[in-house]
Amino acid sequence: MREVLQGEEMRDMKVTGIHSDHVVVVTGASTGIGRGVAMTFAKAGASVLVHGLTPELVAETVEAITAMGGSALGVHGDVSEEETHQRIIAAAMGEFGRIDHLVASAGIQTYGDSLITSVEEFDRIYAVNVRGVFLAVQASIPEIRKNHGTVCIISSVQGVATQRNVVGYTTTKGALNAMSRAMAVDEAEHAVRVNVVLPGSIDTPMLRASAHQWSDGTDVGAQKVVEDWGRSHPLGRVGMPEEVGEVCSFLASTSASFVTGAEIRVDGGLLAQIGAALPSKLD
Ligand SMILES: NC(=O)c1ccc[n+]([C@@H]2O[C@H](COP(=O)([O-])OP(=O)(O)OC[C@H]3O[C@@H](n4cnc5c(N)ncnc54)[C@H](O)[C@@H]3O)[C@@H](O)[C@H]2O)c1
Repeated sequence: MREVLQGEEMRDMKVTGIHSDHVVVVTGASTGIGRGVAMTFAKAGASVLVHGLTPELVAETVEAITAMGGSALGVHGDVSEEETHQRIIAAAMGEFGRIDHLVASAGIQTYGDSLITSVEEFDRIYAVNVRGVFLAVQASIPEIRKNHGTVCIISSVQGVATQRNVVGYTTTKGALNAMSRAMAVDEAEHAVRVNVVLPGSIDTPMLRASAHQWSDGTDVGAQKVVEDWGRSHPLGRVGMPEEVGEVCSFLASTSASFVTGAEIRVDGGLLAQIGAALPSKLD
């Protein structure tokens, strides 16, 4: 049966305020963008199931949320394995009793062209970045449907444009954009909205590790690479995890009640600009 909610009903559906009394599952919330997302939702009043790979880092995010008076519970595990998601859902339901939103941020980056990238590396990045997101949605969607909630998938600008030596990564991000589109169409009849966010360069451990790899290996060299990448964005800097979190939070709110199947860029204008630049002023 179709469960599309009409205007008044949709407006009345949620509490006032953005996320108070809602529960969000955030994968990859132990560091970086996922952590920024978790903190943003917690500040808005949501309870947060904090997931990540490393128990100590998961605990750090949970502590940061509880220290500011928020509500959070941590679960660690590999997103490419089904049982991780079963534990996430069981923990969220046991502690909070409901799941309204999923933000799928867990992901990895690898470098290499189609010859250098081994089949094992390709399978691994696909398992984490694509299978991991599919499993997260599949596990949480029965509960999200009950609450007419939302799914937000963290893709990348590299899902629609690319560079040298990112064939594995860019393939997975393109797949996430397509997956999000398909899920948005499937879930619409359950009044569940699904969107995908495409960050540009965001200052996270992943970005810093990449900068180290492409620098002379020193911290100073890596900082210079980060600043160079920042200058390639029209806004002249890299973004911060919370700037992605704010957009995910908006997408989960009733303010975005007619937004689904959208690809939202959070990239400081990166994709708007053609690489071959003209001089800054005409004489
Ligand atoms: N930082 C950027 O510039 C940038 C730009 C575009 C897209 N992204 C995407 O944003 C997402 C988060 O990246 P980030 O920069 O915050 O990276 P990060 O390395 O800081 O965080 C990655 C998170 O994913 C988790 N994770 C990694 N492998 C996992 C696995 N096998 N199982 C479970 N969890 C795993 C880590 O525990 C961590 O919480 C990724 O999907 C990434 O592709 C990042």
